[in-house]
Amino acid sequence: MIVHHAASTTFFLQGPQSSYVLGVDVHGRLLHLHWGARVSPGSLGQVVRNLDRAFSPNPIQADRTYSLDTQPQECPTAGATDFRAAAVVVEHPDGTGLLDLVYERHAITAGKPRLADLPATYVEDPAEADTLTVTLIDRPSGVRVELAYSQFRDHDAVARSLRIINAGDAVRHVTAALSASIDLPTADHRLLTLSGAWARERQVEVAPLRPGVQGVGSRRGTSSHQQNPFIALLAPDAGEEHGEVRGLSLVYSGCFNAQVEVDQFAMARAQIGLQPPALRWKLAPGEAFQAPEAVLVYSGTGLGAMSRTYHRLYRTRLARGQFRDAPRPILINNWEATYFDFTSDKLVAIAAKAHEIGVELMVLDDGWFGARDGDRAGLGDWVVNEAKLPGGLTALAARIEQLGMRFGLWFEPEMVNPDSDLYRAHPDWCLHVPGRVRSQARNQLVLDLSRAEVREYVYEAVASVLRGARISYVKWDMNRHLTEVWSPAHPAGEVHHRFCLGVYELLERITAEFPHVLFESCSGGGGRFDPGLLHYMPQVWTSDNTDAIARLAIQHGTSIVYPLSAMGAHVSAVPNHQNHRTTPLTTRGHVAFTGAFGFELDLNQLSPADLAAARALVVEYNQVRELLAAGDLYRLRSGADQTWAAWQVVAADAGAALVTFVRILAGSNEAIPVLRLRGLDPAALYRVTSAGEPDADLGGDVLLAIGLRPLVRHDFTTKTWHLKRL
Ligand code: GLA
Repeated sequence: MIVHHAASTTFFLQGPQSSYVLGVDVHGRLLHLHWGARVSPGSLGQVVRNLDRAFSPNPIQADRTYSLDTQPQECPTAGATDFRAAAVVVEHPDGTGLLDLVYERHAITAGKPRLADLPATYVEDPAEADTLTVTLIDRPSGVRVELAYSQFRDHDAVARSLRIINAGDAVRHVTAALSASIDLPTADHRLLTLSGAWARERQVEVAPLRPGVQGVGSRRGTSSHQQNPFIALLAPDAGEEHGEVRGLSLVYSGCFNAQVEVDQFAMARAQIGLQPPALRWKLAPGEAFQAPEAVLVYSGTGLGAMSRTYHRLYRTRLARGQFRDAPRPILINNWEATYFDFTSDKLVAIAAKAHEIGVELMVLDDGWFGARDGDRAGLGDWVVNEAKLPGGLTALAARIEQLGMRFGLWFEPEMVNPDSDLYRAHPDWCLHVPGRVRSQARNQLVLDLSRAEVREYVYEAVASVLRGARISYVKWDMNRHLTEVWSPAHPAGEVHHRFCLGVYELLERITAEFPHVLFESCSGGGGRFDPGLLHYMPQVWTSDNTDAIARLAIQHGTSIVYPLSAMGAHVSAVPNHQNHRTTPLTTRGHVAFTGAFGFELDLNQLSPADLAAARALVVEYNQVRELLAAGDLYRLRSGADQTWAAWQVVAADAGAALVTFVRILAGSNEAIPVLRLRGLDPAALYRVTSAGEPDADLGGDVLLAIGLRPLVRHDFTTKTWHLKRL
């Protein structure tokens, strides 16, 4: 997978259909040479041409054609001859931030080492990946930067990370450490970002690059609803099914920066990495700073293929645990059914009705603990409220299990309400700056998880509940962003990142002690839908917006990077609680099939017709749950124009598929949609089954070339087709 071409001091990282090439130039600088279609190891000809450029200074006096300002680099630094954005900045005792990084050594090893204290992709067998480590050194200071590149055998994906080591004899501070930096030779790309807000996360935005810096990031302490830690660069002709696409995804859940800088010579520097506000990480002599992992995916055949690479990699080699890529239980969650207003009997009645139609897991959401009758109090006090739930969680879990269902529970462990016993006992355990206002959001403050004693409390609080009752599932929520980020335990410039490391440490311990528990992460819906948390929790509550039509854009955007198995999606009541829209129950179900499927309403309130529709959805879901958990997604139409949306999930061996069509707004006397399918075996014959239509046996070639002609003509209605190879 990794070839060292010694004659040209060049390294070729070879994916199935891609190459990533870097090399050491005559001056010892590590250059970026190619990331794109696969090339054979050997000479790259004229890849770097040097010219004497005005106002681009020369670090080597004798060579006026050589400036770092014009070189395509792998690890650019600031303060010398490159005026573009740096990847690594280290502040020296004299206050300068210069690094003159030159090649020192490299190693190529089989497999992929673990990243200390950080989530990352992994291999199960050393034959699945090779890792190249290149060590660069700044000779005047002794600072070293170790760049790690893992090339996966089966994926056109390279995982990059870096480590900064202070091998000098003075204390220094890291102020920038971007995990990936790539100088592409042309700027004629479009930049795709996944941007949004609460209840409309990850909307696809595409804009042409222009000279200067453009990008996205988060200063909120979490990856955020507002921007996802991902960007893609699309070639001018690239679309869903064709053209070159390059994705950069960061395996991190805190503040980040992802940007592209188009320079004076139309090179595009694409970067992604952690970037807490005012980062200043102390490195004593001998200490190292590990930056998170960035996963770079190249596709020569469009955005769809890039997404499928991320899906397969993140589903099987980022997520962990027994539920990693297994079908998930069908659940019912009481949040939108009851909010804070429930009793044991009411919960059991909801569960019983759900069990009747085949639901397998009952999740008790917010409100079961402390003085939690609304969002004003109780966070931090993880002790069951026996006045509400007589006999506690043990009794409730037993009643749910008697029905033949499993029981799950909501937590928001990273938070505290000022009105709580925890806050009264430890008012200094929240993030705050002494002498300043403690800004609340949803009446809550953030616990200082950078501190070991706070983490220990949170760990024991959650673990003792999980040890005490039969709990099969945990929803781990996080309902505000970080303000007044300071801690008595650490220098101010470290607290943001240390908070994130603290969350990871907690999750590592909890998931290790409770391996049988299915963990779903949540942050006011999809505010922390990022690869970092996916490493610990294989599914995420995609959005608090449960309206089927609004979900089309949210789930479409989410699927640009994240697998269907990771997306929690529920059938909820109408009119919808977020946007008041009314859609048919079957539509809500078919849209929720794209993810970890469940219900979030009181089925006792449904009409007999809707209850029958809910029952039919469970029957249909059971036919395709394996397919949905591990199949390949083909996005056929996004629905962004509000006419219709369609997608398809195909088994890895192309033996089965589910096609979903959603009519958004009906036109008048309009054209019949043409739905050409993807990913099927052209030589196979498929039995095509759809409710209300006679079964048809059609060739894969016909379905690919001609496709289906859906007659679905009412606003907000859906149709599905099930395909089986004969
Ligand atoms: C967040 C979640 C919801 C629900 C509430 C409970 O908003 O996204 O699903 O759990 O918290 O307070």
